[in-house]
Amino acid sequence: MAFAYLQDALNARRREGLLRQRKIIGSSVGAMIEIDGQHYLSFSGNDYLGQRQDLAVMQAWVEGISSYGVGSGASPLVTGHTDAHQQLEDFLATGLNREAALLFNSGFAANQAVCQALSHPNLCILADKLMHASFMEAGKLCDAKFKRFRHNDVNHLTNLLKTNPSSDLSSSATDKLIVSEGIFSMDGDLGCLNELQNVAQQHDAWLMVDDAHGMGVLGKTGLGSVEQFNLSQQQVPILMGTFGKGIGTSGAFVAGSQILIDYLVNFAKHYVYSTAMPPAMALATHASFQSLADGSKQQALTQRIAQFRLLCQQKGIPLTDSSTAIQPIIIGDPVTCLRISEDLKQLGLWVTAIRYPTVPKGTDRLRITLSASHKNSDIEAFVDGLEIVLRRYQVLLNE
Ligand SMILES: Cc1ncc(COP(=O)(O)O)c(C=O)c1O
Repeated sequence: MAFAYLQDALNARRREGLLRQRKIIGSSVGAMIEIDGQHYLSFSGNDYLGQRQDLAVMQAWVEGISSYGVGSGASPLVTGHTDAHQQLEDFLATGLNREAALLFNSGFAANQAVCQALSHPNLCILADKLMHASFMEAGKLCDAKFKRFRHNDVNHLTNLLKTNPSSDLSSSATDKLIVSEGIFSMDGDLGCLNELQNVAQQHDAWLMVDDAHGMGVLGKTGLGSVEQFNLSQQQVPILMGTFGKGIGTSGAFVAGSQILIDYLVNFAKHYVYSTAMPPAMALATHASFQSLADGSKQQALTQRIAQFRLLCQQKGIPLTDSSTAIQPIIIGDPVTCLRISEDLKQLGLWVTAIRYPTVPKGTDRLRITLSASHKNSDIEAFVDGLEIVLRRYQVLLNE
């Protein structure tokens, strides 16, 4: 039968406990979500700072609609690029000490665009093994040679980069692009950007950082990893950041040299052939960065992370050494992970089970995310619930 593989693939996923199904969220206020008439305290979203419902951000959105309407009405090279987009690009370029920035509709599109637009047969891309699928997929499909180095392993990267006549790697590559993340999306640990930029300089390579989870959260004014670690455009020639997580809106940007941005404006198909982001979104995004500049929400988040980790330690809940809002608990198999997530749901707590192939086999996990919009009492109730459920599955330490 034609296209029988569709059903076969779904059946296989179901058998292995890996089938994905969506939940329909009725409403959400702060960290509370409503599903099928039930309310849950969510520890699953990426709105790390509560910016989705920040009053100044919502106000900017509404004002944007009254000036420009709800959509941009065209792709950027036609009539879709407004002064609202330009002001956000200028703000990002100035704040990040880059020559220029370019907006995209999503981080997925931005990663694909960079990969596809820059690729040629003599480019060698070397990506951290735990890079997000939006980069990996594009890297594997583009014209460049594509290699992965072990997670945050600079020695492995250096070995791959060394000229080795028996490998087809960098020996024949005229250009090399090293790629990592600011905060890794599933583990919450930081990319070793300082070491990576050193290696890049030594090997005449470029470093690209996907800072999707660092934006808003890291840096004195919320401008992410390059602000936090003071990394210049020369050290990180390609910076990608998204707005759909800590910034609370949607969309993404790439920042770097004027030549890079001019090149993307001309050759990045995801930019050229896609309707520009709504101008109201650009205004709301700009307002979100401004409302984060004093660092107070980031401080609240830091306090929640410390509280969560302390309570978990006291109860023997096994954590990784992540210091960020992403606090995974590794369960190791998809079926148990789903059961734990279901049991937490019964207690009014929402944590999505993240399973293979989103994470490597055997590392299925609860990807817990904390937010400045959680109250101290939310964290207390959550850790109490976690303890009860994890004890049932013998996941607690020393038991
Ligand atoms: C590291 C990373 N890069 C890129 C993306 C894609 O960003 P967006 O959701 O804006 O498409 C994500 C989203 O989950 C991500 O975690």
